[in-house]
Amino acid sequence: MNNLQPIHDHDVPRFNLPQRPRRNRATAAIRDLHRGTWLAPQHLVYPLFIHAGADDQPIPAMPGCSRLGPEGLLREVEGALADGIRTVILFPAIPETLKTPDAAHAWHPDDIVPQTIQQLRERWPELTICSDVALDPYSSDGHDGLLAPDGRILNDETVALLCRQALVHAEAGVSIVAPSDMMDGRVGAIRQALDAHSYQEVAILAYTAKYASGFYGPFRAALDSAPRHGDKKTYQMDPANRREAVRELRLDEAEGADMVMVKPAGPYLDVIRDLREQTPLPVAAYQVSGEYAMLKAAAERGWLDERTVVLESLLGIRRAGADVILTYFARQAARWLRT
Ligand code: PBG
Repeated sequence: MNNLQPIHDHDVPRFNLPQRPRRNRATAAIRDLHRGTWLAPQHLVYPLFIHAGADDQPIPAMPGCSRLGPEGLLREVEGALADGIRTVILFPAIPETLKTPDAAHAWHPDDIVPQTIQQLRERWPELTICSDVALDPYSSDGHDGLLAPDGRILNDETVALLCRQALVHAEAGVSIVAPSDMMDGRVGAIRQALDAHSYQEVAILAYTAKYASGFYGPFRAALDSAPRHGDKKTYQMDPANRREAVRELRLDEAEGADMVMVKPAGPYLDVIRDLREQTPLPVAAYQVSGEYAMLKAAAERGWLDERTVVLESLLGIRRAGADVILTYFARQAARWLRT
């Protein structure tokens, strides 16, 4: 019991407030009228993990995600399309026996990625298929670039290999190649290689500002692609840096990127905003595996309401300026957005 008296209307002091922001929040219809950011399934790209086995293998730190076998993949893509997701990006888990220091399987036409692109392309001609152009799943060193004997990551030698990988994906029918390696000059080199082989219609989604982030942990566990030694700080960006993202943007624009990306998304909303203001190109943001894992873990414990926080996190990324969001929640979010 408290000893406050009930408030009667005549007791309330009325004051003259010219500005009452709450008027614009009064009803659902008024709130809809003034809503400044919208989120729809069309903005979402669905990352999918594939592997050579027949079964689907759940990924422990990413509840709801699996390394998909061929049947599981078709089922997942069919379901995603039914939910309104029209774009997927593929990430392969490669068996240890196929990993080499030169990551040669990355540009083998029999590799699981070109094979899968071809199958999806045949089955769904309208599907937008993106592929990750990077050596790390295929490298016995777990790095995105070739290693010199002294441990340095070789830039130009790596770029030449990324071009081969991009060409194999293009040949298989990919819509968009997405180099995630952060080597210098790779966007321009890939553009030239694609054009020289008459793949002018294949677009490039550049990982423009990809930070050396701890939030990639669950992804690396899923693909068994963590660096065997050292870290990725000589090619991925320092999380402390903001202007450097604009520098990378200028280069990727000049080299012919069709879309630019910031990764991770949630901890880098200022960088998304910077790119939005600095370029007319579409801006993408990648809500990465660690961001997914955090939300999932809290939701599983009942500490957060999953639907509310997932949609809020995606809306926040859109509000920061992203046109496109890559997210493991894509399918689930699309379903929530329709109900
Ligand atoms: C590697 C690559 C990574 C991710 C996408 N491509 C990991 C890394 O750079 O080590 C991370 C995606 C995620 O965490 O969801 N080329």
